[in-house]
Amino acid sequence: MVRKKTIRDVDVRGKRVLVRVDFNVPINESGEITDDTRIRASLPTLQYLIDRDAAVILASHLGRPKGKVVESMRLAPVARHLGDLLERPVKMAPDSVGTEVEQVASGLKPGDILLLENLRFHAAEEANDPQFAASLARLADMFVNDAFGSAHRAHASTAGVASYLPAVAGLLMERELEALGGLLAHPGRPFVVIIGGAKISSKIGVLSHLLNSGDTFLIGGGMANTLLKGQGVEVGTSLVEDDKLDVARDFLRQAAERGRSVHLPVDAVVARSLEPGAEVRTVGLSEVPTDWLIVDIGPETVQTFARALEGAKTVLWNGPMGIFERPEFASGTRAVAGIVAGSDAFTVVGGGDSVAALEQMGFADRISHISTGGGASLEFLEGRTLPGVAVLEDAEPAPV
Ligand code: 3PG
Repeated sequence: MVRKKTIRDVDVRGKRVLVRVDFNVPINESGEITDDTRIRASLPTLQYLIDRDAAVILASHLGRPKGKVVESMRLAPVARHLGDLLERPVKMAPDSVGTEVEQVASGLKPGDILLLENLRFHAAEEANDPQFAASLARLADMFVNDAFGSAHRAHASTAGVASYLPAVAGLLMERELEALGGLLAHPGRPFVVIIGGAKISSKIGVLSHLLNSGDTFLIGGGMANTLLKGQGVEVGTSLVEDDKLDVARDFLRQAAERGRSVHLPVDAVVARSLEPGAEVRTVGLSEVPTDWLIVDIGPETVQTFARALEGAKTVLWNGPMGIFERPEFASGTRAVAGIVAGSDAFTVVGGGDSVAALEQMGFADRISHISTGGGASLEFLEGRTLPGVAVLEDAEPAPV
């Protein structure tokens, strides 16, 4: 992939800089931000710009208000929280575009920070409307995309605006592209890929593309049931995508043809049903009762995965190993979190549940790179071009 220019490659001093951030964070009913990872992840870019006397105009979406003002999706709580983190005031704009906002933006002083109101209160944002993009561009001299989590969206603030302003990457965007891009282009070997989650249909693109660079694949979670059933294993009433059995078989065939090693669960935690208090057992994969369902990987599988991870130089983990939101079915995911955190490899983790497992165990700071992208990181790892990255200026090629 071509390297993109970043804020380090251009002169930001004294400029008005429009920064697209992904402040799409969970906010509870009392207006408290329950996970501020994405806000913290933007701080290096913001500090870099403030230190160089830029005036910073921040733009983000929050939730999916679908073109209407939704009170619970206002960004004011984010402005307050960001102000606390930066220890300086963050002004909240009345809207994301319009005369009033233009006046506020043009009055900004070096080091000032203005947060625009939720972009998605305007349907024109998601429609990538050129006029809306031009209105955003009028606020600033330069565009910085630091919203890796939204880079798979071709919206006015992620893509369209780059037609009107010089456009470069922020430091978070740079870090994400380097970490995830490295997995595809030049991973340290052996490169072990751990993939879980409910459905193979949502991860088959990633699995197939990673056959190019991954050496070993450890697969758990509901998606493993589809792979197992495709191999003729009895998985009882477990979640299975019956219309994806061919896709599952095809992946295993391709992996074998290319000499990749794939480990599927060898034992499982099974439950009679998902009713609270239902009977639970650990069984070998050949012993899943026909009227029970798989809810987690078993301890022998954890051992197999741990052995496969020994000596890894690069590890990617995305997706839980079982129904992780139920504490009684979270052991496999938690065990994998511990093994990944303890690995000496360059470790990359993406996906809400895997990150939540690491955070619950206090292991998040032992991971080399935690991606802030959900859908964006998956699309990137599928080898797709992200619109919010494609529009950024290419860096000068390094001298030969
Ligand atoms: C995300 O949370 O994945 C990003 O903020 C993108 O949000 P979206 O799926 O609503 O576009």
